[in-house]
Amino acid sequence: MTNKIGIVTGGGDCPGLNAVIRAIVKTATLNGWECFGIHGGFDGLLTPVQVMPLATKDMDGLLIRGGTILGTANSGKFSAKTGHGEPRQVDQNILNQAKINFEALGLAALVAIGGDGTLTIAQQMFEMGFAVVGVPKTIDNDLDATQTTFGFDTAVACAVDALDRLHSTAQSHNRVMVLEVMGRYAGWIAAYAGLAGGADVILIPEIKFNHDAIQRKIQAREAEGKHFTIVIMAEGVTLEGQGFVTSNKTGTDREARLGGIGHLVAEEIENRSKKETRCVVLGHLQRGGQPTQWDRQLCTRFGVHAFQLIAREQFGFMVALKENGTMGPVTLKDAINKIRRVDPAGDLVMTARALGISFGD
Ligand code: F6P
Repeated sequence: MTNKIGIVTGGGDCPGLNAVIRAIVKTATLNGWECFGIHGGFDGLLTPVQVMPLATKDMDGLLIRGGTILGTANSGKFSAKTGHGEPRQVDQNILNQAKINFEALGLAALVAIGGDGTLTIAQQMFEMGFAVVGVPKTIDNDLDATQTTFGFDTAVACAVDALDRLHSTAQSHNRVMVLEVMGRYAGWIAAYAGLAGGADVILIPEIKFNHDAIQRKIQAREAEGKHFTIVIMAEGVTLEGQGFVTSNKTGTDREARLGGIGHLVAEEIENRSKKETRCVVLGHLQRGGQPTQWDRQLCTRFGVHAFQLIAREQFGFMVALKENGTMGPVTLKDAINKIRRVDPAGDLVMTARALGISFGD
């Protein structure tokens, strides 16, 4: 085995990717390994390869820098998900070309940093002989195999900041303010931010909502003399009898792009309540900026443990945060295609309900 590690970031970017890269490079270098960054997602392994050496001196400032210095992609030749999360086999010719280039570069192992789609690609590569390990990233926090993914905490912090700001303007104008947040088919960002940001209504894909219930909450607040209401909702929420709201057609090489449901819900709230209602779609602000302290330490631990998996030649695994707070490996096979969603009967929802927060049901 050579002592060269390739690092690739895949899927949507999020705060903390650079912190993981930094942790891998620093610990690998201390142990006598060389690191190389694959540029632009897995496509960087196709001819002509786009690879850059990564030394410890290049890591300055990366702990706090948002995005990824390597670039990333969530569509194209290496897309392993399509539609609403349906798995897709990457073309064998593409995988073969990547393998030939990987070997020509003299790389001994590859660290794939990404969410379900990226880790599914990693598993397909592992099955054809790549020495690969994974690191779980996504603001959606929807991977079942780890207690949490990195990027999620930062996204929640961004959504809470938005709710704080919306509170004062909602109160000043006696309005209903609707905040649409990301999360795909899981309501983690909406639920955590809603609780931390004092939302009155939280709408998540895991709980079917109806407009009568939202109106009841608004009326109850009016009766208490509270003439404003804050609604937070996940982009993956569906209206009764309708499908997901998407902002483009689904391609064969990418997942459907969710978004836009917030405006529809806000319109209906205004029609029914006769209260002025505004909608804010938080969008990619949730994916930008510096990672929180929680994400920084999580990324650092993930990065170090990913290197240790390589040093032990434990390939085909992903590092995961276990229930007891320790780090441990899970097989990529077990980690993929298992989406973790908010438990409607779990503590998070029960706590919110105990405060009188409505889930629109
Ligand atoms: O998976 C992360 C995520 O930010 C989702 O929450 C969101 O639905 C999607 O990616 C947005 O993707 P894009 O960057 O292609 O708009």
